[in-house]
Amino acid sequence: MSAAPERIWTVLDLLRWTTDYFASRGIETARLDAEVLLAHALETERLRLYIDYEKPVQGDERARFRELVKRRADERVPVAHLVGAREFWSLSIEVTPDVLVPRPETETLVGAVLELRPDPAAALSILDLGTGSGAVALALAKERPAARIVASDVSEAALAVAKQNAAALGLDDRVEFVLGDLFEPVGGKRFDVVVSNPPYLAEAEAASLAPELAHEPRGALYAGAEGSEILLRLVAEAPDHLEPAGLLALEIDPRQAGAVCDGCRAAGLADERVHRDLAARARVVTATASATGEES
Ligand SMILES: C[S@@+](CC[C@H](N)C(=O)[O-])C[C@H]1O[C@@H](n2cnc3c(N)ncnc32)[C@H](O)[C@@H]1O
Repeated sequence: MSAAPERIWTVLDLLRWTTDYFASRGIETARLDAEVLLAHALETERLRLYIDYEKPVQGDERARFRELVKRRADERVPVAHLVGAREFWSLSIEVTPDVLVPRPETETLVGAVLELRPDPAAALSILDLGTGSGAVALALAKERPAARIVASDVSEAALAVAKQNAAALGLDDRVEFVLGDLFEPVGGKRFDVVVSNPPYLAEAEAASLAPELAHEPRGALYAGAEGSEILLRLVAEAPDHLEPAGLLALEIDPRQAGAVCDGCRAAGLADERVHRDLAARARVVTATASATGEES
């Protein structure tokens, strides 16, 4: 008796099966994750899958895909870690377990800086505090080609990833990387723009958050019991590092908007503004230093 022929799995079969499987395991972005992982296993572009729907997927490619699917569903490893990269502001950013995976909502932070400093030719000095993968610094470097950027982080391992990203994107000539706590590595230097997406989650909430967060560095996520420890330190110290009329732009948890705006006023900053992300949640606070350079 001959053995039953092995089932042929097409690209579409695999996408359908995996999307259902991920959804049944509580993964919200089931279809997108299935597509990104299958494209990675097949060493192709995600959009290419749509052209290749009917193409059979070979045994070795299926084995590679199966392993990725298993790690995504069982260990809840973020897709960016499985494929080693994430798109941010149309840049391909390399991601390792040493850095936060750049989030879509952080594009609101980049957008707010560009909106408030709209001249593309301005020779701005910019400080990106807590640069992680370098995503924010590199997006701003790309959009403001005359700007010079200092990118800092307290994690040496994160800075190594950021430097690699800057070099890969050909932006390393205008971005300098420095190691240390908040403003400490820049001494008394002042900037036209200080931008930061600091850790802002509450340690007390860690157990109730998405399991994917366990794969990212704790130091990139949590900031004290309430989550606002680093944000409030940063706001208090910012006026000493802003040029006259300099801009401070901070990503926040929506619940922190009031406290961060109050902190800005207490520090002598003005024009506080809350910017909303694509989900209409308060995501970024901006404020400016006084035009005379004197603190009120
Ligand atoms: C939420 S991640 C943001 C990474 C990146 N900027 C982004 O938006 O994807 C916060 C980053 O701040 C760094 N960090 C945490 N505490 C810091 C401190 N006290 N001084 C400087 N950087 C700090 C972390 O190592 C981490 O890379």
